[in-house]
Amino acid sequence: MTDPQRKLIIAIDGPAGAGKSTIASRLARKLGYVNLESGAMYRALALRAIEWDASFDDEAALLKMAQDSRIMLEPAIGGNRVLLNGKDISARIRERDVSEGASRVSVHPKVREWMVARQREMGIAGGVVMEGRDIGTKVFPDADLKIFLDADPVIREQRRLDQQKAKGAPAQAIAAELRERDRRDRTRAASPLEAAEDAVVLDSTNLSENEVLNRIEELVEQRVAARR
Ligand code: DC
Repeated sequence: MTDPQRKLIIAIDGPAGAGKSTIASRLARKLGYVNLESGAMYRALALRAIEWDASFDDEAALLKMAQDSRIMLEPAIGGNRVLLNGKDISARIRERDVSEGASRVSVHPKVREWMVARQREMGIAGGVVMEGRDIGTKVFPDADLKIFLDADPVIREQRRLDQQKAKGAPAQAIAAELRERDRRDRTRAASPLEAAEDAVVLDSTNLSENEVLNRIEELVEQRVAARR
């Protein structure tokens, strides 16, 4: 029987720009849970590959690099910190070359297997909001609550542009990169981005951040009540 005292495992999946990171971190803070951003682990590996001049296509080399790296996710209130072998890479992994690299290293089944095993270890005790692409389908298929957060591609592109504008990045290139990353994440053979059958699909196109958060909080309350 489920222990009613055990804190939940909440999975939030969806494409880039749907608002997962903000929602997951706000939700975790409200619930007193830990927010684990699985994409940051693929980003850390991509950065390692860039620094070591390794190919994003070399699965064996990437797996070895992952095994030899210490990738740490440190949830913090002002934004999660990501450490690679003790070095803070939180800002660097948001750059465009790393975003593309993360999507490319994540196509490899052996890399995914390794990442999924680490992610399970991190979340298994519960009290986590884990976000990514395959959390509800592969990492925690028995998660207590699964959300698939989506939004119209035009809106997602606009949100990414707003985030990157301050860095002076060219708009057309950003939109094209987002589209290509989406295509790769959805069509790869190993754990493509898709909603789990039992996920609640939320479309944030016409919803404010607070509306999305309120809706998810209602669902959390329902799940908690159902276990009493
Ligand atoms: O969520 P994000 O944008 O930081 O993720 C970066 C890339 O990592 C994304 O393009 C695909 C990959 N990823 C994945 O394959 N599975 C996850 N659970 C999280 C991210």
